[in-house]
Amino acid sequence: ETGRFTYDPGFTSTASCESGLTYIDGAEGVLLHRGYPIGQLAEQSSFMEVAYLLLNKELPSKDELDRFNWTITRHTMVHEQLAQFFRGFRRDAHPMAIMCGVVGALSAFYHDSTDITDPHQRMVASHRLIAKMPTIAAMAYKYSIGQPFLYPQNDLSYTGNFLRMTFGVPAEEYAVDPVIEKALDRIFILHADHEQNASTSTVRLAGSSGANPFACIAAGIACLWGPAHGGANEAALNMLREIGTPERIPEYIARAKNKDDPFRLMGFGHRVYKNYDPRATVMQQTVRDVFKAMNVQDPVFETALRLEEIALNDDYFIEKKLFPNVDFYSGVVLSAIGFPTSMFTALFALARTVGWVAQWNEMISDPAQKIGRPRQLYTGPTQRDYVPVDKR
Ligand code: SDX
Repeated sequence: ETGRFTYDPGFTSTASCESGLTYIDGAEGVLLHRGYPIGQLAEQSSFMEVAYLLLNKELPSKDELDRFNWTITRHTMVHEQLAQFFRGFRRDAHPMAIMCGVVGALSAFYHDSTDITDPHQRMVASHRLIAKMPTIAAMAYKYSIGQPFLYPQNDLSYTGNFLRMTFGVPAEEYAVDPVIEKALDRIFILHADHEQNASTSTVRLAGSSGANPFACIAAGIACLWGPAHGGANEAALNMLREIGTPERIPEYIARAKNKDDPFRLMGFGHRVYKNYDPRATVMQQTVRDVFKAMNVQDPVFETALRLEEIALNDDYFIEKKLFPNVDFYSGVVLSAIGFPTSMFTALFALARTVGWVAQWNEMISDPAQKIGRPRQLYTGPTQRDYVPVDKR
């Protein structure tokens, strides 16, 4: 059969599906969700509105948005039994390890009520996932620092509730800072969906077998964790801290260009964007807004800006069309808000859950949908006879 298939490592030129959610023009640096430019959504919309848009194809009316908020809010609690799962993890477990396990475990709680051939049940599962991710991410954080879990508080916004569950304590009132709330909501919008990236393709492939959606999202979380994908935000901030001062940048640029050195500039380069990632533009502005509101100056941000400037004027990066991606600046702002680096990818997973469930729904409702089953070019031996072990 060798030769019958097109070999496309990394799927650089294979479309795996038809999708109406997200359009990217990588050469021009354009990103649209259901036709709306990401810049407009990030500036003028809210994460809940974008979630509605991705799931339901159109922006909601005021009434529809209120009802959607109400529905999501009704699902924010997790089963009490689920808290026991956390206690099985070491306190120093990476939040992504915990999220993989706990989100996968949700499939056991909602197994019988999730008939994926029923659009209503699919939507309920999607709402549950969107609603419970902040609760689970906040619980993972609380567990790591030894503080009690906080129950959701439903008179707060989606993002305000998450901030309170993460940074609040039962002994005190927690006042959500509106500037931080807005900034984090915008960060969630920037991460909501991104076409057929590795984790989304993973969710689709897992879902194509008819698997339980909670298990499919756990598969997406596992894929997102890697440093070449969602883990890049954590790696980018660690890199910027390691560089420390602008004087050391040339040393790291030289390492990134050296083929014999595995080091790469984290938060730089993208499979699709051969221009500035439009999300990075908004992210850089969000850093400025947060720093201004908090009245802080961060040498790490100065290093990031200088690194970007040097790289964008370097022949290697110009020739290979390497630009900052969404992960380059997100760590700087998340750190300023107070999140430890280990939580960065968990926040990405929280936001991307919207894209994952929307893509999963789109796939299941597509009449052309089939189980994903790539072929291969076989490179092993031709047929041969078995030799008993004492004759080898
Ligand atoms: C995300 O796809 C998505 O949509 C993902 C994402 C989403 O929203 O879901 O946008 C989120 O994952 C962003 C990417 C985060 N990753 C990083 O920032 C890690 C650092 N970047 C890379 O490792 C890399 O650029 C990738 C993984 C992002 C893209 O990889 P590709 O498309 O397989 O490209 P490649 O690695 O083959 O690079 C092409 C060339 C290579 O040189 P040559 O072999 O052709 O000489 O560019 C070089 C690479 O060595 N290169 C870099 C580089 N990125 C690519 N050189 C130095 N530093 C870098 N960061």
